[in-house]
Amino acid sequence: MSRPVEIVEVGPRDGLQNDPANLTTEQKLEFIARLEAGGVTRMESGSFVSPRAVPKMADSAEVFAGLDRSRPTKHIALALNEKGVRRAIDAGASEINFVLVAGQGFGTRNQGMTPEQSAEALIHCAPLVHEAGIPLSATISVAFGDPYDGEVEVAVLTDLAHAAEAARARELALGDTIGVATPWDVHARFDAVRAAAPDLRLRAHFHDTRGAALGNVYAAMQSGVDIIDASCGGIGGCPFAPAATGNVATEDVVYMLHRAGFETGIDLDAMIATAKWLESVLGHPVSSSLSKAGSFPA
Ligand code: COA
Ligand code: ZN
Repeated sequence: MSRPVEIVEVGPRDGLQNDPANLTTEQKLEFIARLEAGGVTRMESGSFVSPRAVPKMADSAEVFAGLDRSRPTKHIALALNEKGVRRAIDAGASEINFVLVAGQGFGTRNQGMTPEQSAEALIHCAPLVHEAGIPLSATISVAFGDPYDGEVEVAVLTDLAHAAEAARARELALGDTIGVATPWDVHARFDAVRAAAPDLRLRAHFHDTRGAALGNVYAAMQSGVDIIDASCGGIGGCPFAPAATGNVATEDVVYMLHRAGFETGIDLDAMIATAKWLESVLGHPVSSSLSKAGSFPA
């Protein structure tokens, strides 16, 4: 079990967008620099959405302007409409992650779009990204359940996967925005999407709202997924998902994978130290297990 697994750190975006703390641009840049020093090479560093919808991401252009570009890190910008894609390109994003949505209830509230409209928006925006020479990926939010509408049909995911293929996205994530997935569900949905769109690289995005996130990471890997989103400290959540909690914690995922012999390139001790530093700037404890229990063996 020595296959490499790519961890995409989403703390600076998914993590901070819903935290009660208001970090300054300089503190966000320090967070990003600490993550890079700990071995992170790909991360969501901000989102280009309406500042009224998500005030915590209003300074993403300033964050991108302050990044240390001498490092090889791929800085992903989240976008969900043409204005966001244009702003992300102008800000110098290394990659754009476009948000598709699998449920109408959440989609309407989060981004003013039905699943079909989010697919149309991706297909409309993709040429802009390709012309800019930037890699395009997509994430299907609420892929395991919608907080307003309930169950999400697998067919919605395969339709969105076909749209991602048509848009020439190179990677697609299934996002459990509200943390309702179980490992068996993860197998079924990743296997269905892989069968429907075999050329897309698949990425897993889990929130630990109902305690199953690490089990879901394991299940995704058993289904052949080797790109995992996680946030340092397990911070995060979506402002449009009631009772949202954080992403699966980077240090918890890294611990589990390293113990099994997988390679992530991430320094576990550095990630734990960054989670503790985060507690001091956020002004509250973070939820990860490793930041409390420490690594093993010591
Ligand atoms: N960046 C900055 N401003 C944007 C924007 C973007 N990507 N997209 C739209 N806006 C602005 C418009 O210019 C307009 O501003 P104005 O009122 O000053 O003229 C305002 O937002 C409303 O635009 P409209 O097109 O009517 O959109 P809306 O009010 O239906 O909101 C979104 C739709 C997509 C802009 C909004 O829901 C949004 O940004 N959601 C993001 C949610 C999110 O990030 N969730 C977490 C990650 S999945
Ligand atoms: Zn998320």
